[in-house]
Amino acid sequence: MKIQHPALVELLQRAYSAEKAAAFAYIGHAKSLKDPAAKVAVKQIEDDEWGHRRNVLAIMQQYGIPVSRFYEVKFHVIGRFISASCYVIGWFMPYFFAGKLESGNVCEYFVMMKYFHALGIRQHDEILYEMGIKEKEHEVYFLEQIKDSKWLPYFEKIFSWGNQTTANDVDLENKLPVETSSQYCKTFKAHEVEAANRQAKGKS
Ligand SMILES: [Fe+2]
Ligand SMILES: [Fe+2]
Repeated sequence: MKIQHPALVELLQRAYSAEKAAAFAYIGHAKSLKDPAAKVAVKQIEDDEWGHRRNVLAIMQQYGIPVSRFYEVKFHVIGRFISASCYVIGWFMPYFFAGKLESGNVCEYFVMMKYFHALGIRQHDEILYEMGIKEKEHEVYFLEQIKDSKWLPYFEKIFSWGNQTTANDVDLENKLPVETSSQYCKTFKAHEVEAANRQAKGKS
């Protein structure tokens, strides 16, 4: 079965490749760390990202969606670049930018869920929920490492992420169940999501 939802197809292709960039980045990040426990933790996050990539690919294959060569090359370069930069930008920044990135990734998976719902497809809810929540756990882990750093308040002001600011509304202490979790991320790219769903409905 093919899906008639250009934004969803694009998001799946981008997420598939971006997961590779994240995994590459965490390889460099883990290697640049000295603390053995921190190395293990970041290595686990790298493994999670490879798992996400496999999950996204399985969904794509179900609908005959090809891997985007453009995104594969683009995110390969980005991932390698970030990976290498971890050795030179100090201890704080790799944690900070990883956390900021994860913060945005959370909603990408809930947006995917909303796109699927617009097509009446609910069979991926569980896996998308699991991935969105996992990205939140990654965000929380990275924030935990730097929450007391003297740099954080400055970076938070400039890059809008930190102790007070996040790009999503997921609260790990009070999680919504899978069934109602498409309520997450209501304001995240809201106009874009709505327009994409309207366009998809018009097509079907
Ligand atoms: Fe991921
Ligand atoms: Fe992640």
